Amino acid sequence: MRQLHLGYMYWLNGTHWGGWRHPDAPTAHAFELEYAAKALRIVEDAKFDFFFLGDTLPGDIVREQWITTHNTGRLEPFTLASQLALQSSKIGLVVTAHPTFYEPYILARLTASLDHLSGGRLAWNVVLGANDLAAQNFSLPDLGGADRYERADEFIAVIQKLWDSIEEGAYLQDKSTGRYVDESKIHRLNWQGKHFQVAGTLPVERSPQGHIPLLYAGASELSRELTAKWADVNFTGPATAEESIAFNADVRERAVRLRGREDPIYFLPGIAPLIGDTRADAIELYEELNTLLPFDDDLVDGDQDESFWSSPDWERITASRFPLPQGIRSVRSLSERIGADLRPLGLDGVIKPDIAERFNSYGAGLVRALADRTDRTVDAGGVRVRDLLHAAVAGGFPLVIGTAEHVADTLIDWFDRGAAEGFNVNSPFLWNQLERFTGEVVPILQDRGVFRTEYTTGTFRGHFGLEVPPNTFTQE
Ligand SMILES: Cc1cc2nc3c(=O)[nH]c(=O)nc-3n(C[C@H](O)[C@H](O)[C@H](O)COP(=O)(O)O)c2cc1C
Repeated sequence: MRQLHLGYMYWLNGTHWGGWRHPDAPTAHAFELEYAAKALRIVEDAKFDFFFLGDTLPGDIVREQWITTHNTGRLEPFTLASQLALQSSKIGLVVTAHPTFYEPYILARLTASLDHLSGGRLAWNVVLGANDLAAQNFSLPDLGGADRYERADEFIAVIQKLWDSIEEGAYLQDKSTGRYVDESKIHRLNWQGKHFQVAGTLPVERSPQGHIPLLYAGASELSRELTAKWADVNFTGPATAEESIAFNADVRERAVRLRGREDPIYFLPGIAPLIGDTRADAIELYEELNTLLPFDDDLVDGDQDESFWSSPDWERITASRFPLPQGIRSVRSLSERIGADLRPLGLDGVIKPDIAERFNSYGAGLVRALADRTDRTVDAGGVRVRDLLHAAVAGGFPLVIGTAEHVADTLIDWFDRGAAEGFNVNSPFLWNQLERFTGEVVPILQDRGVFRTEYTTGTFRGHFGLEVPPNTFTQE
């Protein structure tokens, strides 16, 4: 029977931006090993495919505190992952690194070393995110726009060559002949590209997985091309199963064109399950978390000057896929964004159908998301202005709200329809929601025969049934 794959996306405080304030949430310690190690143990015990360390280089730490608290302080991912490798034995470890800020030689060394030390459990999440302020920590004026995709493309081509540059068996260490290495198995790259000039060789024997598997998230044209050309796993967050099916089909078609063959690509959408004993409990928890989000001091008219609403800053925010950032969370900003002035209604005003009809597509999307999450509908008179404001601010990954049974049914439905080969699971807050997922949802998936009860391999590739690719030097 087909098996689905599960990754755990480790965020220090979970992915609901009010989650860390929940009374049951622990005060997380970003700089202690034990906190991440505890999360790792929970998901390895549940037989997850991988433990995922995201990493966005922060721009403005003070602003980040209310957006993604985990960006305000975090350990360097390779250092943390090398410790986590010692705390686990089977689970895959995904480390995030940004091609814009590394040299391929350095990243090849880090990844190949860690693949050896973890026994073939490493994967690399290729990211191109963050902002210009982050770039300025690297002596760069900005992030590089579309050029960063081109740089990433060449970067991956170079790094794969570097991983291949010393074949298995090159270290003879033959005492009788005095031959330490077999020179025919050691290759120089002599790479002369647009972005990189790399002579080679990497002083690391080809690691257990040969080419370290690549993860990527992103759905734009350039992201689709990059995924199709290189990635083994994509974990973008589509809004609906239909959208996911169309996205996966599109990327797979591109992959055939770009790779000249059909390689498996695994689509693992990001989801954030919010689990309660009943659906009503889960909805109540969602609404409780939302009250913990920070808002403007003036909740109706907002804290911004009048001029802000015609500024480029506001234009940028309305064009972004992200929820409303801190400092712009009021009925005013919501009204600007959905195209209908809700201020006269006040926070507890109920949205009538004639008002909802005037919403733009963003507003209509919020109404749909709210119905999905909480069963509140405009027709039933259940949508208050505050509910829409909460939906506009509560960020994170697509939420699946309900009982463990409902969450399992939803995952299996996506899996059965070909909308996903598995999921990158986020917890809205710790430890409660992580433990409910592993303790209640995973056993249902196992009972229904779609998720492993024991590990059968001990490498990232092994968990996905991905073969170790041949060495590109010996193929030439
Ligand atoms: C689910 C998801 C997770 C991401 N995680 C990170 C991350 O940890 N670090 C980072 O720099 N960028 C991250 N990104 C940004 C992507 O690397 C990439 O820059 C972005 O998705 C490009 O999107 P687009 O090409 O579709 O516009 C993430 C994106 C998505 C969709």
